[in-house]
Amino acid sequence: MSVKILMVCLGNICRSPLAEGILASKLPKDLFTVDSAGTGNYHVGSPPDKRSIHTANQHGLDISLQRARQFSRKDFEKFDYIFVMDGSNYDNVIELAKTEEERKKVDLILNQLFPNENVDVPDPYFGLQNGFEDVYQMLDEACEILAKKLIEKHS
Ligand code: 4NP
Repeated sequence: MSVKILMVCLGNICRSPLAEGILASKLPKDLFTVDSAGTGNYHVGSPPDKRSIHTANQHGLDISLQRARQFSRKDFEKFDYIFVMDGSNYDNVIELAKTEEERKKVDLILNQLFPNENVDVPDPYFGLQNGFEDVYQMLDEACEILAKKLIEKHS
């Protein structure tokens, strides 16, 4: 049985597709499944933003085949860990949780890097290309720590 990790942002086209691609690249595929979703439904069915695809490409990752989907209550059952990009995503996901067990699955991804500081991954959507590289770097550092912990705990 594989351990399932979900990355969540608002649109599922900028930050969480990068987070999915980065974490998946650091984990053995036979033991872990990584997916992503958005709390909003604006971009359902769309590929990641071109700027996220480009940034991922520059680091040797292909995220172009991902398609956006909306986070749903079922994800609390399907996934063992749910990492959100910012405080607003956190509030939106926690609002849908019904049990303490579900709430405990949810954390901000940058708490891996800055424990208990609740730092947001900034939304790069309305910014420029270099904002996407900044997001990539933060997520890469956080996912490096997370991947080590997950491998230690589950394999
Ligand atoms: P994401 O970025 O949450 O990182 O995918 C956004 C994408 C789209 C919008 C907002 C944020 N939007 O308002 O359409």
